[in-house]
Amino acid sequence: MKLTNQTAIVTGASRGIGKAIALTLAREGCNIAGVARNEASADSVAEEVRALGVKFTGYGVDISSSSAVNECVDRVQREFGGIDILINNAGITRDTLLMKMSDEDWTTVLQTNLNGAFNWTRAVTRPMMKARKGKIINVSSVIGLHGNAGQANYAAAKAGLIGFSKSVARELAARNITCNVICPGFIQTDMTSALAEELRQKLQDQIPLKRLGTADDVAALSLFLSGSGSDYITGQIFTVDGGLFI
Ligand SMILES: NC(=O)c1ccc[n+]([C@@H]2O[C@H](COP(=O)([O-])OP(=O)(O)OC[C@H]3O[C@@H](n4cnc5c(N)ncnc54)[C@H](OP(=O)(O)O)[C@@H]3O)[C@@H](O)[C@H]2O)c1
Repeated sequence: MKLTNQTAIVTGASRGIGKAIALTLAREGCNIAGVARNEASADSVAEEVRALGVKFTGYGVDISSSSAVNECVDRVQREFGGIDILINNAGITRDTLLMKMSDEDWTTVLQTNLNGAFNWTRAVTRPMMKARKGKIINVSSVIGLHGNAGQANYAAAKAGLIGFSKSVARELAARNITCNVICPGFIQTDMTSALAEELRQKLQDQIPLKRLGTADDVAALSLFLSGSGSDYITGQIFTVDGGLFI
């Protein structure tokens, strides 16, 4: 097993991509601190993860609150004994055209998708620097690279996350901490379930691999970036989109 006795914080672990990441890392022996909006939601994957023989605790944390995140990181350190991997995966959309976008649509998405990753990354920096090792993986989006009509808030947050990650990679490299970014394309989760069937079919036709991605497609890359095989890779952006943006 590749990650025996390591501990990963996975945000947005209750569903979709985050759940797949939690299960994939757990299959390799990694203990999981799973974060979602509330404890009941975070705990919804507890049984499945623990069945793989690792430790799991669910934490209810609003990732946009820096004090709640700091408190949680302290708890995880106490309860797990350290933090080896941070996966900033939790994210939301509030899609609407720019003219109709409210202040709240803008700030909620920025506060969750960008401030959230900042809050966690800053909070784990001290323990990771002390340990002189760490893996930080930020889940951005192809929309952060290419933009999308109706998603100016989401694209800004996801593009910001890429610049943030490159800076973190440069800043923490001397302490053997890597920071990389995954940009999923269209992945079948609750986030994309609202797409109209016609649009889904159109998208699928445009994807060279002729299907939407699965959460496991993304989780497989997160495992590589969490393990020692990626020790000499930092500040990089990896797209998982079936070839959509070749
Ligand atoms: N699906 C796609 O096609 C796609 C494409 C590109 C990028 N992504 C990115 O991949 C990540 C995961 O997407 P997904 O499709 O798996 O999403 P999802 O199924 O909608 O799940 C979102 C997760 O984030 C958590 N979350 C949201 N806001 C939170 C907050 N304020 N505090 C704590 N947890 C919060 C949710 O917790 P609760 O269960 O408690 O609500 C849930 O676990 C996101 O960053 C998304 O932007 C997705």
